[in-house]
Amino acid sequence: VVPADAPAGTYVLVVVSNRLPVDYEEAEDGSVNWRTSPGGLVTALEPLMRSSHGAWVGWPGVADRDFEPFENDGISLVPVRLNEADIEDYYEGFSNDTLWPLYHDVIAPPSFHRETWEAYIAVNRRFAAAAAAVAAPGATVWVHDYQLQLVPRMLREARPDLVIGFFNHIPFPPYGIFAQLPWRKQILHGLLGADVIGFQRLADAGNFSQAVRRLYGYPTRGVVIDVPIGETDQGGQNGESRRVIAKHFPISIDSAGYEELARRPDIQARARQIREDLGNPKTLMLGVDRLDYTKGIGHRIKAFGELLADGRLSVEDVTLVQVASPSRERVSTYMALRDEIELAVGRLNGDFSTISHTAISYHHHSYPREEMVAMYLAADVMLVTALRDGMNLVAKEYVAARFDFDGVLVLSEFAGAADELKQAILINPHDIDGTKDAIVRAVEMPKRERTRRMRSLRRKVAENDVAAWSDSFLRALTGGAAVPAGISDD
Ligand code: F6P
Repeated sequence: VVPADAPAGTYVLVVVSNRLPVDYEEAEDGSVNWRTSPGGLVTALEPLMRSSHGAWVGWPGVADRDFEPFENDGISLVPVRLNEADIEDYYEGFSNDTLWPLYHDVIAPPSFHRETWEAYIAVNRRFAAAAAAVAAPGATVWVHDYQLQLVPRMLREARPDLVIGFFNHIPFPPYGIFAQLPWRKQILHGLLGADVIGFQRLADAGNFSQAVRRLYGYPTRGVVIDVPIGETDQGGQNGESRRVIAKHFPISIDSAGYEELARRPDIQARARQIREDLGNPKTLMLGVDRLDYTKGIGHRIKAFGELLADGRLSVEDVTLVQVASPSRERVSTYMALRDEIELAVGRLNGDFSTISHTAISYHHHSYPREEMVAMYLAADVMLVTALRDGMNLVAKEYVAARFDFDGVLVLSEFAGAADELKQAILINPHDIDGTKDAIVRAVEMPKRERTRRMRSLRRKVAENDVAAWSDSFLRALTGGAAVPAGISDD
């Protein structure tokens, strides 16, 4: 940990997200480590952050601890303190028990609590203040995700000189669902403080614009929304309006990085070892998800179980590896989901596994990227059966890893990735019979067809990698420049 050399207020690019790109870890002997989180956003923004004197504002993943800003791997990090109550009310409560289910088609019922809304406002204010304190005059500030939707407006009020972008990593719901939120107008007002509001899918941007028209009556023309400048917008006069762009910028992955890993001989050897350890099944199917009710893990298990029961697949030939990484474990819906999934896995294995063949190899862990790539290489069929998903980067990671032009992707049409990855076998996971047919088709797909489809999928993922994504967002935000200009002391 090196103290940041730059004094506050000098950063020309500031990224704000709920989590910092590193997690704080304290070992039992008291030694401290900052573990780089494997998230795609870090990879995407790292080079840009280094070259343009950037700062990253976020929570270090531990409660009740104050940290001074510090530098990690060439990026200045500005930790925001969250205490236990903030984590309960702002993170687990309003973000993950209200907004998350609401924005994912109310798959689980959202809770609406006035106390957690108050905590959301207070914590958003803290993030906005931290960003405002480090941003140089005229700097570009890029705010990320549903946890921080009020930050753009708060920043604009504090620092009208800033260029403010917001990117929503999760879906934006249709008006009929969004309208349930008691604080729907405040959320829109918060977002409209940004100059550019980015979404994953065209449909998300459309839903947002519709909500703005319905709730505020502001005119929208294509991607442009004219937002009247009111009393809360410093520097403006009534009657004038600001131009806000609401547009889709589908996020991606570091596809070359994934391919590079997949080409490594040690990772290929690991892929072979995985198959061998599983008894060399004819077909290995893979699911990789955060253990979240939006991912349709139960639907996938049901379809697989019925295929085994029908005799259309046999446990001698097919194994499903399911990685379910632990997530939001103190939120009750997630606790219930874990019980439900583990019961289903246990039942299915009890009914169908033999001494030598396990039907579902289930893992409640997260793994390093190298191990994930080995699994992708080992898997003949990748199952992405999300009931609703902003993008689903696992689908893109699988494609990027398959430099051998093999493997079949079964992809839910309710994942944002389906807008781009049309050569996958697209499914409606609610349609269990349709999903079963798609799985059988994937298992039986001839090599020529697998290669043709994977070639086209790989072209898509390589064309729009994560660098292209951040580049196009920042160009929209800064009016053409991929690297933000500001007034810095460099
Ligand atoms: O994109 C959705 C998201 O909530 C991200 O903001 C986050 O990095 C990821 O999923 C994991 O969630 P969490 O930070 O709640 O563990």
